[in-house]
Amino acid sequence: MIGYQFMGKAHSHAYRDLPFYFDPKLKPVLKVVSGRNESAVSEAAEKMGWESYELDWRKVIERDDIDVVDIVTPNHTHAEIAIAAAEAGKHIITEKPLALTLDEARQMYEAVKKNKVKHMICHNYRFAPAVQVAKKLIEDGRIGKIYHFRANYLQDFIMDPEFPLVWRLKKEVSGSGSLGDIGAHSIDLARFLVGEFDEVVGTMETFIKERPIGEMAGGLSAKSDKSTLGEVTVDDAVTFIARFESGTLGTFEATRFAGGNRNKNKFEINGEKGSIRWDMENMNNLEVYIADDEPGLQGFRLINCTEEVHPYAGAYWPPGHIIGYEHTFIHLIYEFFNGIADNQQPAPNFEDGVKNQQVLTAIEESSKSKRWVKVSDF
Ligand SMILES: NC(=O)c1ccc[n+]([C@@H]2O[C@H](COP(=O)([O-])OP(=O)(O)OC[C@H]3O[C@@H](n4cnc5c(N)ncnc54)[C@H](O)[C@@H]3O)[C@@H](O)[C@H]2O)c1
Repeated sequence: MIGYQFMGKAHSHAYRDLPFYFDPKLKPVLKVVSGRNESAVSEAAEKMGWESYELDWRKVIERDDIDVVDIVTPNHTHAEIAIAAAEAGKHIITEKPLALTLDEARQMYEAVKKNKVKHMICHNYRFAPAVQVAKKLIEDGRIGKIYHFRANYLQDFIMDPEFPLVWRLKKEVSGSGSLGDIGAHSIDLARFLVGEFDEVVGTMETFIKERPIGEMAGGLSAKSDKSTLGEVTVDDAVTFIARFESGTLGTFEATRFAGGNRNKNKFEINGEKGSIRWDMENMNNLEVYIADDEPGLQGFRLINCTEEVHPYAGAYWPPGHIIGYEHTFIHLIYEFFNGIADNQQPAPNFEDGVKNQQVLTAIEESSKSKRWVKVSDF
């Protein structure tokens, strides 16, 4: 694993707990974690259960005892590490967004195809049992033709103007701001549940243009000495609407300036036969409205997706004994390891990462040109 902070913790936990709850066809062995700061990476290795550490990620990729490389570093590093790992024949998991630019994303996808390795991108929210139930309801035709997909991804962790200029706020490191960081998750959920985007029109805004220089300090917290200011070069918020190839209309908002919303990743789907709602902050529950319910008893019903019949949920606890954020990563890694064992390419993968990045690029272009943009133009 390259990197060891916020996502490093989520992924390490997933590798450790995977064989505890599930019976994957292959079991992870936590061989080596890489980081540039020796005292910090050795402490992380010890705490998170990795056998060893390396200061240079290239050494990890050169090692013969490594089969899988997991990339949990900032976005500008994904392409170089993933392409080197693919050329060394390693299977790859990388965090989202796939890359800094669409060009880089395409090069990564070419590299994994050419070297015939398995690949995944960490759009972990697909793997909440309730989201999997939503997918099944749609596939079974229970919602019918989908008219609307409505998603908000709302956070508030950078609202304080003193929150420092961390990597997430620099275009050359992160590619974009709220758009690629959290909007990319809504785009993935939309592609998973509704299908491919056709065209988009959107607008992006940076509310706070300068911030004190600083760095991330675990989770979504940060530290700074507050002495020097630097320019914010990404969006703080984005709003866009979309047409899908299926004819569905999409409305989207991704912002880190929605005070009081810590990680409100939610969507609502309205179809000819019913509606579905999900909200990450109540991630075990799915709200479902079925239009042919008896008159007088119609309305959204609340399904607690913790039963044996709900995807992944049966591996944990009795019904009603809920699971959390970290479990979505276990499910993703379960699919990855089984994919390697069965020689099947799991999803979401680098192809999904490229398609996601096409939508991100089209939205940025639309925000600049102030017009509708076809996703297939990129
Ligand atoms: N799936 C999700 O829900 C989710 C959530 C948060 C972050 N992410 C993604 O995960 C990735 C990492 O984000 P994070 O929040 O863990 O970041 P972080 O700042 O918490 O951790 C980044 C790690 O990368 C290391 N690092 C930074 N620059 C490096 C470089 N040039 N070379 C080698 N190592 C370097 C840091 O030392 C640290 O260990 C990003 O791509 C981000 O978009 C995904």
